[in-house]
Amino acid sequence: MTTWKGRVGEHLDPQVWEFLRADDAQLLAYDCEATAEHARRLADAGLLSGDELDDVESRLAEIAQAPEGYLDSDEDVHTAIERLLGDVGRKIHAGRSRNDQVAAALRLYVLDACAEARDAIDSLALVVLSFAESEASTLMPGYTHLQRAQPITLGHHLLAWVEMLDRDRARFAAAAEAASESPLGAGALAGSTLELPQPPRQMRNSIDAVADRDFALDYLYAATVLFTHLSRIGEEVVLWATAEFGFARLPETAATGSSMMPQKLNPDVAELARGKAGTAIGRLTGLLATVKGLPLAYDRDLQEDKTPVFATRRDVRLALGALTVLVSGLEVDRERMATAASDPLLFATDAAEALVRKGTPFRDAHEAVAARVREGTFRRPRTRAGRPAPGPGGIQEALVEARRRFADDF
Ligand code: ARG
Repeated sequence: MTTWKGRVGEHLDPQVWEFLRADDAQLLAYDCEATAEHARRLADAGLLSGDELDDVESRLAEIAQAPEGYLDSDEDVHTAIERLLGDVGRKIHAGRSRNDQVAAALRLYVLDACAEARDAIDSLALVVLSFAESEASTLMPGYTHLQRAQPITLGHHLLAWVEMLDRDRARFAAAAEAASESPLGAGALAGSTLELPQPPRQMRNSIDAVADRDFALDYLYAATVLFTHLSRIGEEVVLWATAEFGFARLPETAATGSSMMPQKLNPDVAELARGKAGTAIGRLTGLLATVKGLPLAYDRDLQEDKTPVFATRRDVRLALGALTVLVSGLEVDRERMATAASDPLLFATDAAEALVRKGTPFRDAHEAVAARVREGTFRRPRTRAGRPAPGPGGIQEALVEARRRFADDF
């Protein structure tokens, strides 16, 4: 069905129809929710009777469960809902347009996707936190430029992952905040002459309300930054699991084998997380390109906002779930890490600082130690305090603080 056959007639070419149709079945439940709210506003204004409102609400509850294939004959999910509502559906579109309708439904979808992402981030972060706890005193080399730099603990390193995830959580919260305003009442772009009550948190400007997709961009941005973090975490797991590093063994719950080489245990989960970051960047860039230069208010270009948002939600859920399994099963080779961390060169900075404590200017101390390193006569200083903690407190305090952020019941 279309909502505009009164104007265009029935002559639409089938190829044009196929081109126009939206692949938006995932919006169904969200549009039902937004439609129920609109129906209540119509009833408040006396434009739907109490019985009609009951009818709409109970039908919407059923429609929201409809299998996706249900919608094949409709231009989009909004049209399908109007058709499936039957007779009362002919009244439901008073005072609204698909322009405010789709914006309202997509906002509800993004709100849910943000909540889902935050829960999945929490699950991964809690696993990383308990990993950090059990490896709080596991020594390892810290790296810059992927060259051994200074000794650290694995717990300290893992807490850096937690910080990244903590910021991701905040970005999804900000995207949810952006999505939580309501475009209902904006109509096509200029509101309506029907005096409907205002929805809570109604957007100030009806033209902006139907044109704005910043909330979808904010969501895609939050997901893209998350994926860049997952790609860095994934890359470290890939490195640690090589025979060359030998710091960690992959769990069989989250590793793959080779179709040809019988000995292989491959880190495909970590690699795919890394690969998905590229796809996420593409989706964000794609939607930015769609809205760039787009005249206000609504244009059909905006139908292209859905595919990247739907696909990103699926990737975020699956990637975080799989990485949670991977990280919870990683087995650390503490001995191998400790051996690598005992490389005397890791203490060169400490040796320079020991000279500074005795009054040598730092640059002179740096040059003196560098000269011994070049000659091959550098020796590790005899005493060395434990590595500095990952924050103003010690590593345990940092763990407690990070745990509090991720688990209310800690
Ligand atoms: N399927 C459309 C979309 O996703 C709904 C809005 C259509 N509005 C219109 N004026 N043609 O954007």
